[in-house]
Amino acid sequence: MSVHKEIKRVTSHTLQWMKQQEEKISMLTAYDYSMARIFDDAGIDVLLVGDSASNVMAGHETTLPITLDQMIYHASSVIRAIKRCMVVVDLPFGSYQGNSKEALSSAIRIMKETGAHAIKLEGGEEVLESIKRIISAGVPVMGHLGLTPQSINKFGTYSVRAKEEAEAEALVHNAQLLEAAGCFSIVLEKIPAELGRRVAETLRIPIIGIGAGMHVDGQVLVMHDMLGITKDFSPRFLRRYLNLYDQIKEATEQYINDVKAGDFPNEKEQY
Ligand code: KIV
Repeated sequence: MSVHKEIKRVTSHTLQWMKQQEEKISMLTAYDYSMARIFDDAGIDVLLVGDSASNVMAGHETTLPITLDQMIYHASSVIRAIKRCMVVVDLPFGSYQGNSKEALSSAIRIMKETGAHAIKLEGGEEVLESIKRIISAGVPVMGHLGLTPQSINKFGTYSVRAKEEAEAEALVHNAQLLEAAGCFSIVLEKIPAELGRRVAETLRIPIIGIGAGMHVDGQVLVMHDMLGITKDFSPRFLRRYLNLYDQIKEATEQYINDVKAGDFPNEKEQY
């Protein structure tokens, strides 16, 4: 049975239930009111206010520069738009790696100042203490393993992760630790599909993939990639549903031509 349209409000419990019912979970990133409103109206299950805002909204090369204040601004805008979906907000780089007290106060700022429903953070064993502390304060936590963009300077590349046996075993171990710590879900980014299947089958909590294959419990994409606003980013896992870069460019060129030609506004478009 599909809960897609029936559920009035998606929570972490709904996602758990969807996994049990084998209903796939749909998730997209969102960073502003207008887009979040369209996605929620379309019936998306989860919106992630991702720190990818650093790339697609602010034009930085990595996710590292975005601040907690900037994440709070984006998350507040998204929250004002939604009626049904669950909103998860990324803890940005530098707001939780120091110690668990810092991690908790960053999570609390997000929950208090935005009204979001959960936070997401990257890493396994190394951030476990922080995860436990945040969860014990009543804040739901989504984990993130595999390619973790906040650690790009450590790994040096955005290539597929955990292709080797040792790294795959470490990933499964970390996923089990996150589940045992109380995470309600985990994002797996850019790993072999068979490893995605293994984690999704081993764990009880929902596993959401981005480049983690078809066997996980749900999928997430960055909205700018899915809508074809970004042009130069074409990983194998990406499916583009629109080509908005070209469509918006054409519309803009048409508008410029109309203004220059004195064709806009016409008589009906003035007072
Ligand atoms: O910030 C983000 O957009 C993300 C997704 C890639 C999962 O973390």
